[in-house]
Amino acid sequence: TRLVVLISGSGSNLQAIIDACERGEINGHIVAVISNKADAYGLERAKQAGIATKVLSHKDFDSREAYDAQLMNVIDSFMPNLVVLAGFMRILTPGLVQKYVGKMLNIHPSLLPKYQGLNTHQRAIDAKDDVHGVSVHFVTEELDGGPVILQAQIPVLKDDTAETLAKRVHEQEHIIYPLVVKWFSEHRLTMEADYAVLDKKQL
Ligand code: GRF
Repeated sequence: TRLVVLISGSGSNLQAIIDACERGEINGHIVAVISNKADAYGLERAKQAGIATKVLSHKDFDSREAYDAQLMNVIDSFMPNLVVLAGFMRILTPGLVQKYVGKMLNIHPSLLPKYQGLNTHQRAIDAKDDVHGVSVHFVTEELDGGPVILQAQIPVLKDDTAETLAKRVHEQEHIIYPLVVKWFSEHRLTMEADYAVLDKKQL
């Protein structure tokens, strides 16, 4: 399986997937890492792992459509079977989403359908939730709204801040994202209509 990973920042999820590939857990490898930010630390992680990198700055484009058109060209030049969004902080146009439907994953730091969008950790604290967590889902046109594949839950502790909560959620992200990529790489995971299917069972 040829993976292309899109990032905007630290890339700790990227690192978890690199490590899982190197351990032989994923039946495939990352062929390229694409960032919309030149200073994303994840680019260093990719280079250290010998992975091709490409920066495509949204500031060089007049419109979201123009950016995404070029982004699709860059993605396709690497001929991926799966596109992995790992902290790629851009809203995608419908045209791009449709092109990769069933072949694009995202990780979102909440128990979807709760807290789509930003500031999820603070929102869970403000709502006095007992549990919080993270979701991996197929990408559809609805922002953070596609079929959920796997979630991890963590308790919200009395003294948690957005930072402490984010740290513990991140630990779970690094477990569940490589696992979902592994399933996909083994052809066990597909998207059918509005839901995800694992080993022929609807999730
Ligand atoms: C993670 O919190 C992920 O859930 C969200 O963006 C963040 C990316 O972190 N979509 P990293 O760049 O992988 O460290």
